Amino acid sequence: MGRVAYVNGRFARHGEAMVHIEDRGYQLSDAVYEVWALFDGRLSDAEGHFVRLERSLSELSIPMPMSRRALTLVLKEAVRRNRVREGLAYLQVSRGVAPRDHAFPKAPVAPSMVITVSAVDRAATEARAAKGVGVVTTPENRWGRCDIKTVALLPNVLAKQKARAAGAYEAWFVDELGFVTEGASSNAWIVDRDGRLRTRDTNANILRGITRRTLMEVIAEEGLALDERPFTPDDAKTAREAFITGAGSLVLPVVSVDGTPVGEGRPGPLALKLRRLYIERAKATAV
Ligand code: PDD
Repeated sequence: MGRVAYVNGRFARHGEAMVHIEDRGYQLSDAVYEVWALFDGRLSDAEGHFVRLERSLSELSIPMPMSRRALTLVLKEAVRRNRVREGLAYLQVSRGVAPRDHAFPKAPVAPSMVITVSAVDRAATEARAAKGVGVVTTPENRWGRCDIKTVALLPNVLAKQKARAAGAYEAWFVDELGFVTEGASSNAWIVDRDGRLRTRDTNANILRGITRRTLMEVIAEEGLALDERPFTPDDAKTAREAFITGAGSLVLPVVSVDGTPVGEGRPGPLALKLRRLYIERAKATAV
């Protein structure tokens, strides 16, 4: 059996799964999404991603397409049908299909829902973590509601491409005050010169990362010092360590910022330890 996708109530072969040309997600980016890491075929941080999905939808007045319970079943069925053990589950919900008009459709339409599942080569991602990755910085140019996980990702797309073109893995947005907000698809962290963990606070215009939040529980349990306080690219370049978090990256050491090595230019011991602890916890709590 090849890959399958879920589209609006049915499973279809991945290559043949389609949405309508007037889907508002396609035409207007009027849609939100979530990504779950999969460990042994189970959804990691399941609850946190559902809560954020519900919030993203409610901020845009898009109804939940089905109950959380039903959604869990469909997601798990999509994972099962794709026979993926280690990977990612992607869920997108748009406002639905309607003749193109910027304003919401006058008559209510049913939201569209799509789920895809992809495999991740964990040996390759572990090798990447053992080596560490580079980031480049780029001016923050996104809208003011980055707390909503919408598919309107063009600034993130361009930032990520800038990183790839520079041979880096991630791009960090830097706001007009000179502080790092977050990555194109991850949250940004450092271990500062005093050994304190630092990441941007959620009053800033960032996505409230679920991996970030779970890692904060790990950090509290370990009794480590944490400051939700902004840092600049220079702070990162002179930090002991840096790393990023996200459903795709998990906890991934950063070894250079704009070509300048961070610390000794190798993955830091704390970042590697937090990666191990996060993965242990994610595996233990996956559903
Ligand atoms: N990205 N910030 C941004 C802009 C993101 O797109 C993401 C996740 C994160 C981390 O959030 P979380 O820990 O909840 O995954 C932070 C997903 C993985 C993506 O776009 O594929």
